[in-house]
Amino acid sequence: MAAEKSRILIIGGTGYIGRYVVGASARLGHRTFALVRDTAPADPAKAQLLQGFTDSGVTLLKGDLYDHASLVNAIKNVDVVISTVGFFQLADQTKIIAAIKEAGNIKRFLPSEFGNDVDRTNAVEPAKSAFAIKVQIRRAIEAEKVPYTYVSSNFFAGYFLPTLGQAGATGLPTDKVTILGDGNTKAIFVDENDIGTYTIKAADDPRTLNKTLYLRPPANILTHNELVSLWEKKVGKTFERVYVPEEEVLKQIQEAPIPLNVALAISHSVFVKGDHTNFEIEPSFGVEASELYPDVKYTTVDEYLNRFL
Ligand SMILES: NC(=O)c1ccc[n+]([C@@H]2O[C@H](COP(=O)([O-])OP(=O)(O)OC[C@H]3O[C@@H](n4cnc5c(N)ncnc54)[C@H](OP(=O)(O)O)[C@@H]3O)[C@@H](O)[C@H]2O)c1
Repeated sequence: MAAEKSRILIIGGTGYIGRYVVGASARLGHRTFALVRDTAPADPAKAQLLQGFTDSGVTLLKGDLYDHASLVNAIKNVDVVISTVGFFQLADQTKIIAAIKEAGNIKRFLPSEFGNDVDRTNAVEPAKSAFAIKVQIRRAIEAEKVPYTYVSSNFFAGYFLPTLGQAGATGLPTDKVTILGDGNTKAIFVDENDIGTYTIKAADDPRTLNKTLYLRPPANILTHNELVSLWEKKVGKTFERVYVPEEEVLKQIQEAPIPLNVALAISHSVFVKGDHTNFEIEPSFGVEASELYPDVKYTTVDEYLNRFL
């Protein structure tokens, strides 16, 4: 008989990526708990989201990152803790680590990562400091000997494909398309539902214990030039490609306001420096999701772009 599936707590489940992780956990048959600050929110969209959670069998636990007892009590219900908290709470994930240590029952912790591998990046400021917070949390987890998996999901498709990868743009190109660097560096775009699915599959997999899980679905590894060509083929139109040399990109990052400077710095790291793909995954530190879970029929970038036609 198969062992019972792990019970999973998501902290930050109402957030952008968190809701996909909660959805995947329930869908894949895990007893799923979501720590929420307000179980009866006035905001109709949020109330509807929570109703959707309970309809799919998710248990809502009232709690807060800054209420230690609420964290410990929530954590005692489960085997796995997944944090999907947003930027402003990243550093305070030390509070989750402390609660996990006190509860003493957690088999795996997945901190809020879901992006570049922050130990392998050439990011410049302000992205550099943002990534450094995630690095600090990694080192704290390792120092406390909490079993972990780091999910390096690369680009959220829903963040980057609606503008065809143009940082700061508001939509798809109409005549010109801006490309940072020469457009020949490979980047990786992953559908949010697939990020949820791969994350949950990895959450209690012995092969991902104390490793980084990289999401590199082969069909979704494209250069910016290839992405533009793919879209051009679909719409039967060619766009003027405006290439921004690295020197100019660095200048734009320094001059741009927050948060555009962050978006540009992340785009520089990926599109100019190639930080999604410029290293090999060594078995000593990582595993690749589509190889580990070939049964997952992931959404390809090609399919994703059809939604915009
Ligand atoms: N790779 C990419 O393309 C990409 C893009 C964006 C983000 N990311 C990464 O994804 C991760 C999650 O970011 P996100 O944008 O999805 O986050 P988000 O939408 O900002 O969600 C934040 C979540 O944290 C919760 N939260 C805030 N304060 C809390 C507290 N005191 N106690 C408990 N929960 C609290 C929020 O709950 P409430 O609903 O109560 O406010 C919400 O559920 C981050 O690590 C980020 O860097 C990656």
